[in-house]
Amino acid sequence: MKIKANPYSSGIKDFTNTLLSLPGRFGDVAKASDKKPMSPTEFQVNKVAAAIHPKMQVLVVEKIEELVDDFKCYTLKAENGKAAYFRAGQYLAFQIKIGNSLCTRAYSIASSPKDAVNGIYKIAVKRVADGFVSGYILDNWKEGAMVTAYAPEGTFVYEPLRDAKTVIGIAGGSGITPFLSLAKAIDERTENLNLILLYGARTEKDLAFKDELDRIALSNGSFKVVYVLSESKQKGYEHGFIGADLIKKYAPASADYSVFACGPEAMYNFLAKEVETLGIRRKFIRFEMQGVSKMTAKNAGLTDETCKVTVIDKGEKREIEGRCNETVLTALEKAGIAVPVRCRSGECGFCRSKLVCGEVYIDDASDYRRLADAQFNYIHPCCTFPKGDITIKIN
Ligand code: FES
Repeated sequence: MKIKANPYSSGIKDFTNTLLSLPGRFGDVAKASDKKPMSPTEFQVNKVAAAIHPKMQVLVVEKIEELVDDFKCYTLKAENGKAAYFRAGQYLAFQIKIGNSLCTRAYSIASSPKDAVNGIYKIAVKRVADGFVSGYILDNWKEGAMVTAYAPEGTFVYEPLRDAKTVIGIAGGSGITPFLSLAKAIDERTENLNLILLYGARTEKDLAFKDELDRIALSNGSFKVVYVLSESKQKGYEHGFIGADLIKKYAPASADYSVFACGPEAMYNFLAKEVETLGIRRKFIRFEMQGVSKMTAKNAGLTDETCKVTVIDKGEKREIEGRCNETVLTALEKAGIAVPVRCRSGECGFCRSKLVCGEVYIDDASDYRRLADAQFNYIHPCCTFPKGDITIKIN
């Protein structure tokens, strides 16, 4: 005769075993230390993460070199000798106090990731005609000065899973810095790709870092640089503006390639149409955004009418003045109100704030908000324009 298994037998066994284990468990509890459990900040893994990505870094201006007119290279050394690591193509966002304003500006790192291991970063700053911060840095940062920067950020990096093995880099003016970092990283074997750099400038004397770029190109077969002069017919260079024809001339004929671009807004406007004619896949095209387009407010018909921006910060209310043709972030900075800021182009989400009431304008091109954020009235002040009086909640 077949005996049926009792479905409750294992349950009874478990119950009995639990009862038998109770005295031991009570004993363990009695013996346990009464010390408070470790806070997450004390976990070793979190300590390592904080060391690699500190919230703020104090850097000392170690050396200043004049590259070309009104374009200077700053060597910065971490005060504690430990600079946060980064990937070639990323930027450092600096927090700078100018008068009553508290501004944040991002500058691509020109040095190699390996330099960061030795506590060093290099950035290059070019004077912008109506720039508030670039002029301040060029005129005020001296050797020995202490400056503060957030940990490196940015998505303008080479990703082997997304990008083609060959990248056509297009640099205009100060947009050369992330490519210099990438060329160095290739040379030091921390990045593995082929970089063909088309570097545009007005004349030969406007080409910054030329000796360094030539040296790497000479010694490393994975990096090539082509100089393109727009206002000179000097021999040994390409001439005109960098467009589809020049890209096709230097790109591999029978393999995929990515196009990475970094430079002034005018270059992007021209290049976007040119790159479209190449018919390459969208994922292979990357333009490094540097703030919202200067034309955004004008194109949207926003005037320089003043408005009231009520800012709620940790329960405290403050009223400041804004302008319809300036971003909400500009109003906050002018009033000296600190908000976490990195990219200034709507991408990173660090400045995310809640729009409590009022109407705003956000251009599609810089609206990187998550769908839920857009639905629940969260904004990125760096790319949001007030259309009248508004109230926002920050931090
Ligand atoms: S600073 Fe990056 S989204 Fe505003």
